[in-house]
Amino acid sequence: KETVVSGIRSTGKLHLGNYYGAVKNFVQMQNDYNCYFFIADLHSLTTHPTPADLHGNIKHVLVEYLASGIDPENSTIYIQSDVPEIAELYLYLNMNAYMGELERSTSFKDKVRSNPDNVNAGLLTYPVLMAADILIHKATKVPVGKDQEQHLEMARTFGNRFNRLYNTEYFPEPYAFSFTEKLVKVPGLDGKGKMGKSEGEANAVYLSDDPETIRKKVMRAVSDGGPTEENQAKPEAIQNLFDLMKVVSSADTHQHFDDLYNKMQIRYGDFKKQLAEDMIIATAPMRERIQDIAKDDSYLRQVAKHGALKARESAQKTIREVRSLIGFKSF
Ligand code: TYM
Repeated sequence: KETVVSGIRSTGKLHLGNYYGAVKNFVQMQNDYNCYFFIADLHSLTTHPTPADLHGNIKHVLVEYLASGIDPENSTIYIQSDVPEIAELYLYLNMNAYMGELERSTSFKDKVRSNPDNVNAGLLTYPVLMAADILIHKATKVPVGKDQEQHLEMARTFGNRFNRLYNTEYFPEPYAFSFTEKLVKVPGLDGKGKMGKSEGEANAVYLSDDPETIRKKVMRAVSDGGPTEENQAKPEAIQNLFDLMKVVSSADTHQHFDDLYNKMQIRYGDFKKQLAEDMIIATAPMRERIQDIAKDDSYLRQVAKHGALKARESAQKTIREVRSLIGFKSF
């Protein structure tokens, strides 16, 4: 079986972008691959969460993984910081990651622009830690959304560089994966760009949002005055709503509203109402399970402990072999 690794940062509740970009694929992959799904709590330290926030957000991700249908008996679910071997591999990979290439990473440049007061070294070396997450289990497939594609390219670069340096073929090349034709990019509700946690509460629909909240958010989503000629290209805000519909609704529903738009007969009220109802239906099974699972701390502890044991077994094997390739020897 091929090995699969992916993770989500513990920065809050999961939204539709996380679900359709990542978690939905995790669930579909579990039976056919050797899967490791983790909570990237080390990665979330770049933004300096308080201990209470960090703890709460780790729990959110764990609960929502389980509520989405990831089976802890089938996949290895673990918390990144429970596997210190990842941090050790990160250290080794950092020795061969260069300032120039790290500074050129799009996500780093975005972070510098949006938060110039907190350009820390962890942010710069974020792609190295991500490469360590993947290489520690020698994974080849990484289910992620479109925004992570460049990070995967960097992971291949760091793995290949290690291989060349130590004259080995130890690390295989990991590639971004999705069951959909292309990697997914779920747009937000604010009329521009992707759905994200940092783009403001109203931009994202969370798996745990109740139906009324979803209706309110969607009805308030940015739109415009409607098409002014037949078959016109859609402006970004409208295209985003159609892209969201493509993700959550049936192909027929999407086609129906697309036809209405092209004929200039679309009523945004109806369109948004349909979109909201389909989001409510898509998230309903998870919403209910989230509440139940969140009550059972002893079960969650058990899942995390079991996952950490399995993940460490794999990680320790890699670290033993990497140490030997590097040339560490005990006397
Ligand atoms: P993070 O925590 O930002 O997002 C987790 C996953 O959700 C996907 N995603 C989206 N997909 C489509 N449309 C969106 N609007 C959207 N928003 C988020 C992301 O692509 C991702 O798959 N660096 C990673 C976490 C990470 C990781 C790893 C992933 C750390 N180590 C190793 C894979 C393998 C991140 O910040 O994801």
